[in-house]
Amino acid sequence: MASGLSMTFFRRLSNVSLPPTTLTRMTPAGAKITCSRSRGYQDFPDAPRVLITGSLGQLGIGLAKVMRERYGRENVIMSDINKPARHILENGPFLFADVLDLRGLRELVVNYEIDCLVHFSALLSAIGEQNIPLAMQVNIEGVHNVLEVAKQFGLKLFIPSTIGAFGPDSPRNPTPDVTIQRPRTIYGVSKVHAELMGEYYHHRFGLDFRSLRYPGVISADTMPGGGTTDYAQMIFHDALTTKQHDCYLRPDTRLPMMFIDDVLRATVDFLETGSDKLSMRTYNVTAMSFTPEEIAEEVKKYVPDLEVTYQPDHRQAIADQWPEVFDDCNARQDWGWKHRYDLPTMCETMMNALVPQYNQSNNAVDAIKE
Ligand SMILES: NC(=O)c1ccc[n+]([C@@H]2O[C@H](COP(=O)([O-])OP(=O)(O)OC[C@H]3O[C@@H](n4cnc5c(N)ncnc54)[C@H](O)[C@@H]3O)[C@@H](O)[C@H]2O)c1
Repeated sequence: MASGLSMTFFRRLSNVSLPPTTLTRMTPAGAKITCSRSRGYQDFPDAPRVLITGSLGQLGIGLAKVMRERYGRENVIMSDINKPARHILENGPFLFADVLDLRGLRELVVNYEIDCLVHFSALLSAIGEQNIPLAMQVNIEGVHNVLEVAKQFGLKLFIPSTIGAFGPDSPRNPTPDVTIQRPRTIYGVSKVHAELMGEYYHHRFGLDFRSLRYPGVISADTMPGGGTTDYAQMIFHDALTTKQHDCYLRPDTRLPMMFIDDVLRATVDFLETGSDKLSMRTYNVTAMSFTPEEIAEEVKKYVPDLEVTYQPDHRQAIADQWPEVFDDCNARQDWGWKHRYDLPTMCETMMNALVPQYNQSNNAVDAIKE
């Protein structure tokens, strides 16, 4: 039987369907990973093996779930520098991977036959401003490492960008794909750097680099990671616990947002789109734009006695430089992007997901009291 590596090489050279292959490896933590490819190797998107860096954050857990449903549980490998919860270890392969360790990344890509790298590791806007040297390391050095690995091994590489890649000189309503980008946060600067470096590697070396500029992301089952749009998620948790939300932005601060299901679907659809359909490599995507006042009104339809107070902090200055409305017409035209969640449907979905969770924990507390 040929080794895993030579099998990959063979699959890449031939178009014939191979019989199912099963490869078993041990993770550094001693867990057994069995990787199976039930379909013959064609190119992405048929049976890609995907490595997600920084996968324990707000977006990675959901993306791994969606991709595992499409590509097979063993073909999507989660990684992070944090320790995962037990249920994550039970749901599929997880490995330690520090994006600052170039050799370690190379080793993972070779040992696990990775075809596609989704690079989620980052320090977000608010956290990044609090530790600029670390943000530069993770967000810039980390990007250099994944670019080199992707180039060396011919991987498809996805690095998300953000509304934060624009700045006070950019048009804010609407903000098109190609315009002035002079962000004034280290997060924004590092994301413009990632966009430009990815596009440079694409033009210079033919790397299949892709990036979506996500707006603020709202999710029910993961917590936000220290961005400027976190309030739009925290308001739901506050409404269902204390009924008091103290917002760190002014009531009229308009920002683009997306519900996580739309974000994940956009990401997978974009990765699966043939290169011939892409007129560019970095696209804006969005679903809605609202202010804290507008989302508060919507949440009050479910929790009428919710009280919202406004005490703008350092995040206001960041939000004031960002797009108010994102123009994503190129994504809609080139690869058919369509959002499904607007403000009312997003709020309804959040409430449907969170109310049972809080009821359950309230019942658990009541049971303990009794
Ligand atoms: N969540 C949003 O609203 C949003 C909006 C726009 C863009 N994005 C982008 O999407 C990506 C994922 O965002 P998220 O919200 O899941 O972020 P998050 O902050 O929730 O998670 C980031 C993860 O990166 C990991 N990490 C940090 N340093 C690392 C290192 N040295 N090596 C490996 N992993 C490391 C962290 O442990 C964490 O699990 C990021 O690139 C972010 O910039 C997110």
